[in-house]
Amino acid sequence: MTHAPSPLGTPAVRREARDKVTGAARYAAEHTPPGCAHAWPVPATVARGRVTAVHADEALALPGVLAVLTHENAPRLGEPDDPTLALLQNTRVPHRGWYVALVVADTPENARAAADALRIEYAREEHDVRLTADHPGLYTPEQANGGHPAVRERGDFDTAFAAAAVRTDATYTLTALHNHPMEPHAATARWDDGHLTVHDSAQGSRAVQDALARLFGLEKNDVTVVSEHVGGGFGSKGTPRPQPVLAAMAALHTGRPVKLALPRRQLAAVVGHRAPTVQRVRLGARADGVITALAHEVVTHTSTVNEFVEQAAVPARTMYTSPHSRTGHRVVELDVPTPSWMRAPGEASGMYALESAMDELAVAAGVDPVELRLRNEPDTEPDSGRPFSSRHLAECLREGARRFGWERRDPRPGVRREGDLLLGTGVAASTYPVMVSPSSATAHAAPDGTYLIRVNATDIGTGARTVLAQIAADVLAAPLESVRVDIGSSDLPAAPLAGGSSGTASWGWSVHKACTALAERLGDHSGGLPAEGVSTAADTEEEVGRESPYARHAFGAHFAEVQVDTVTGEIRVRRLLGVYAAGRILNPRTARSQFIGGMTMGLGMALTEGSTMDAAFGEYTEKDLASYHVPACADVPAIEAHWIDEDDPHLNPVGGKGIGEIGVVGTAAAVANAVHHATGARLRELPLTPDKVL
Ligand code: MOS
Repeated sequence: MTHAPSPLGTPAVRREARDKVTGAARYAAEHTPPGCAHAWPVPATVARGRVTAVHADEALALPGVLAVLTHENAPRLGEPDDPTLALLQNTRVPHRGWYVALVVADTPENARAAADALRIEYAREEHDVRLTADHPGLYTPEQANGGHPAVRERGDFDTAFAAAAVRTDATYTLTALHNHPMEPHAATARWDDGHLTVHDSAQGSRAVQDALARLFGLEKNDVTVVSEHVGGGFGSKGTPRPQPVLAAMAALHTGRPVKLALPRRQLAAVVGHRAPTVQRVRLGARADGVITALAHEVVTHTSTVNEFVEQAAVPARTMYTSPHSRTGHRVVELDVPTPSWMRAPGEASGMYALESAMDELAVAAGVDPVELRLRNEPDTEPDSGRPFSSRHLAECLREGARRFGWERRDPRPGVRREGDLLLGTGVAASTYPVMVSPSSATAHAAPDGTYLIRVNATDIGTGARTVLAQIAADVLAAPLESVRVDIGSSDLPAAPLAGGSSGTASWGWSVHKACTALAERLGDHSGGLPAEGVSTAADTEEEVGRESPYARHAFGAHFAEVQVDTVTGEIRVRRLLGVYAAGRILNPRTARSQFIGGMTMGLGMALTEGSTMDAAFGEYTEKDLASYHVPACADVPAIEAHWIDEDDPHLNPVGGKGIGEIGVVGTAAAVANAVHHATGARLRELPLTPDKVL
């Protein structure tokens, strides 16, 4: 038997690439069952209060209008796990933009016109949407996101900080950020004899299936959720969102299939955001820069609907030597939309502050910022005392410094001029935890030599489909083309969402297991397969559930070069370079795309992206891509991602740590540190727009 060369680790092209660029790939809003009606949601126009009356007669009289759903007539829902899904169930308005009605009509235009004609009366209440570091409503929650304890103390920070030879104490402020994927959230729902089928734009259809079953009182088998192609999510599609719930309610009410694409201008209020944070970081060090005391204290907001605590102080528990440490979170419930997951939640915000503080410490101690980080490499994870399964941050820093040309750097700030431009370079470290969830998969070998892998993975643009085929082909020693992979439906073997940079590890583990079992079974059939082929099934509940004695994280280093225009205040990034240690890289083409995509998002976080809470109206003012500025290609002139091959046996059979999020972490700090190097001014509030520079 001749084995095909393993496709794992090769730059295989995305399987759906051609379908996507030719328009053949269909997204959630592109499924139109016969008789499909269209819905348009109606957001509350007060910042807090109650709906007291809905005048729908005028709207109902307009052409094509089928129904107006409100708390008065919408189907009653079961209690959701996530209270943001309790839609149209009562009169309460917890924040501006909360959905108070849904119009259903024969066309989207007619639905929209009727939504405009709807008159809703409210009883307004005083609202409070302003996050301040001394807000009287601040409290310490039990946990920050991800089940992390809200507060951790080691040693005696206050005494150690007071005794330190070098000290920094600074507060960094981050505005809210919005995920704004290219594809707005959309769903098409239909009921057939009590079976609910929904095409939804989601990072994981199983969670949507679970939520719909619970809300509509159905068995899980009576709900099918399909998320075949998804145009990005960045966390905003990581949990079930209003659109599948509203579409299913409208379909139930009207007896017709219903399609609902959330208008971009409504997204800022209903699909989550990265919560704003005010972060105080204090570092105390010996004269040589070795940290003796570290405090990272985070203040953030949540809504009155659901507690969500951005875990921004958590990476400080992993990064650096810190015998005396305090890390904590406080949160206040405001009348704001509920914050949620956004690419590298916790790490992206927290590492901006921590890595900016490290740069300030480097300046204060007179130590090169790369060298400072090398001097603070811990032997074990500071917070847990566990050994790292692998940690190659030092190698990333050294390799990045070499590639970037860091050794030629003059540390003096504000001395490199090119006409009106000031130039500077900066560095920051990056990290992201290794996560994995139980998954199941099946593998089938057909007599014609082809294979079928089934797993409810989701490809949100990452290349998941392709990489899973590579994993299967590797285990089966089969040509890549002989492996078909079916993903993106809750009717497939249960699997977790595309989130937490854990998709490939989670799904890949179950695919690996199913294919390993299949390869063994095939050994018994050397004389040819039975007509029905051979099938195996695998579930990784047990393996994944085993506690690891290791601290498992990916690491990276970012280098940035910026120019600051002293006349206009405009900052432009000239070069961005990242080096990562993230376990085994399974597909260099799709991995590079993930890394530079994350870095581009970090560039946006540093320079252009920000959502402004209007205190009077209680809403985010940036509601479209004309006002919420994500970087375009012209903003990203030279961007490079590299990696260090890391062979870590303590992860999963595939050996990857996850790469979807680490690219964004640390990029904003690298850019901000470069701005300090260019100008000598330390700006501690993102984004670094021209008004802040001048
Ligand atoms: Mo990501 S914020 O885990 O979808």
